Amino acid sequence: MKALRLSRHDADDAARGAAAGGGGESSRDFEFTSADFERIRALIYRRAGISLSDHKRDMAYSRLARRLRALGLDSFREYLDQLEASHDASEWEAFTNALTTNLTAFFREAHHFPILADFVKGRPQPVSVWCSAASTGEEPYSIAMTLVEALGERAAREARVLATDLDTQVLAKADAGVYAFDQVKHLSPERLKRFFFKGTGSHAGLVKVRPELRAMVKFEQLNLTDADYGLRTTFDAIFCRNVMIYFDKPTQSQVLTRFEPLLKPDGLLFAGHSENFTYVTQAFRLRGQTVYELVRGGGAGQAPRRAGDAIGVPA
Ligand SMILES: C[S@@+](CC[C@H](N)C(=O)[O-])C[C@H]1O[C@@H](n2cnc3c(N)ncnc32)[C@H](O)[C@@H]1O
Repeated sequence: MKALRLSRHDADDAARGAAAGGGGESSRDFEFTSADFERIRALIYRRAGISLSDHKRDMAYSRLARRLRALGLDSFREYLDQLEASHDASEWEAFTNALTTNLTAFFREAHHFPILADFVKGRPQPVSVWCSAASTGEEPYSIAMTLVEALGERAAREARVLATDLDTQVLAKADAGVYAFDQVKHLSPERLKRFFFKGTGSHAGLVKVRPELRAMVKFEQLNLTDADYGLRTTFDAIFCRNVMIYFDKPTQSQVLTRFEPLLKPDGLLFAGHSENFTYVTQAFRLRGQTVYELVRGGGAGQAPRRAGDAIGVPA
């Protein structure tokens, strides 16, 4: 069963779109000009590498209109002027958090997890996995569950799962490890029992990740477009799924170049189902099922093969 979770953003956008009969101009409280949208586009690209396509206009409006209301402002122009002039890190953070898309689910793109399980069994222990766009935590906890099932509790306790994301709000949710039962109802009864507490009383309908699983995952903020990630370690596997689709090709290429030294020899890079890195880098080659491996002594640092090719950037 595929149960994709709608984040607060996605759900709010959907509700707003429905209420407004598709989110037309008439439902808007604030004027929203093309110049406003262009400014937002430029700012989020500079800050997060996110390329907002034209059809994200309504999404940008509905998410940022909430910031205008919260700050008591009358226009997007005023908001963007203030944002650009300010050194207020918290408003920049709110701006960035508002424009990320956090759709995720436990064991999303499930075919990757048996591949990970087989892979880690043959690796020197302890293994380390980096989940580089962790969103609200479902993906790194799925990785941690896979390690426990593949390696046993003791070896898995030694393993390290680093889970990072740019959006501080989703990281706070991930850190709490509390989810609606609906989000885990497709997991097997064994997994549910082994890895979650079921809420009772006022917590009925919720589950909480068990402390042993929680302890395997370290959550940190990290911007994939930063020149230096500050990571002084290497990983057996890197998950970078369903985030590169928001980046343009030069940004994708830079991110992959930064991944190269962070992957251990014969390590694996897991990509999202619609992401194809083949024409972005020669340093990684496709092993199959959107899993990549490093080409040792191959294309590291070389220019992409066909610089004009687009790969999974939203149209
Ligand atoms: C659609 S979710 C994918 C979540 C998960 N990897 C999955 O496949 O289910 C994309 C995530 O990428 C994060 N993101 C966007 N831009 C980022 C950046 N520049 N650096 C790090 N994370 C970023 C977003 O905050 C969001 O949580």
